[in-house]
Amino acid sequence: MSPSRKFFVGGNWKMNGDKKSLGELIDTMNSAKVHSDTDVVCAAPAIYLDFARQKLDAKFAVAAQNCYKVAKGAFTGEISPAMIKDCGVTWVVLGHSERRHVFGESDELTGQKVAHALSEGLGVIACIGEKLDQREAGITEKVVFEQTKAIADNVKDWSKVVLAYEPVWAIGTGKTATPLQAQEVHVKLRDWLKSHVSEEVAKSTRIIYGGSVTGGTCKELASQADIDGFLVGGASLKAEFIDIINAKH
Ligand code: 13P
Repeated sequence: MSPSRKFFVGGNWKMNGDKKSLGELIDTMNSAKVHSDTDVVCAAPAIYLDFARQKLDAKFAVAAQNCYKVAKGAFTGEISPAMIKDCGVTWVVLGHSERRHVFGESDELTGQKVAHALSEGLGVIACIGEKLDQREAGITEKVVFEQTKAIADNVKDWSKVVLAYEPVWAIGTGKTATPLQAQEVHVKLRDWLKSHVSEEVAKSTRIIYGGSVTGGTCKELASQADIDGFLVGGASLKAEFIDIINAKH
């Protein structure tokens, strides 16, 4: 990665854990030696956002895993950026492949959520990624560019956005993209930002990789020029998350 982009590691806890196990994980994180040149963000289940924010050391940020596109109202089951902020939480993950493919969220809705979350001052980890059949059909670029456009059309301030490339076939499968496969897409995404947004945004925006990242695979992935960090699922619930945070060391 470029030294001008601060390394960024997100842990996406998804719908896992309880107060006991997450409390233990937080204790492990709080007492670990982590390098200060990395931004660390833990995405907690909505019901544990307050708990996570209260227990995690202040050097770790907290993210919601989703939010709705308006501030309040009759939207049973949803949470808003205003509520997220009210819990002292500063980030939100949007467009995760599980939101897209399990819950059927469209590019359009993802874009609307990005716009609203940013307007409320949250940082956004915006996720994109192709499915296996799309990769095999040779349309990876087309898919991720379309998803990125739906996000980019809703961004004014890129300093609050981290783009997470998560190939769906690598999520939760133990099948990590090779460093070259990941780098190849990251560099294309950076080129897309350069031609569709600006050279400055292309240079400064963190593009992170997600999909079965482990303590064992993180160092080689982190050595790629355009991989600026990770979004980690399963391994973020284990002590090896510390090794992933420290992947550049
Ligand atoms: P895994 O690391 O479990 O493959 O999950 C990746 C992911 O979806 C992070 O958002």
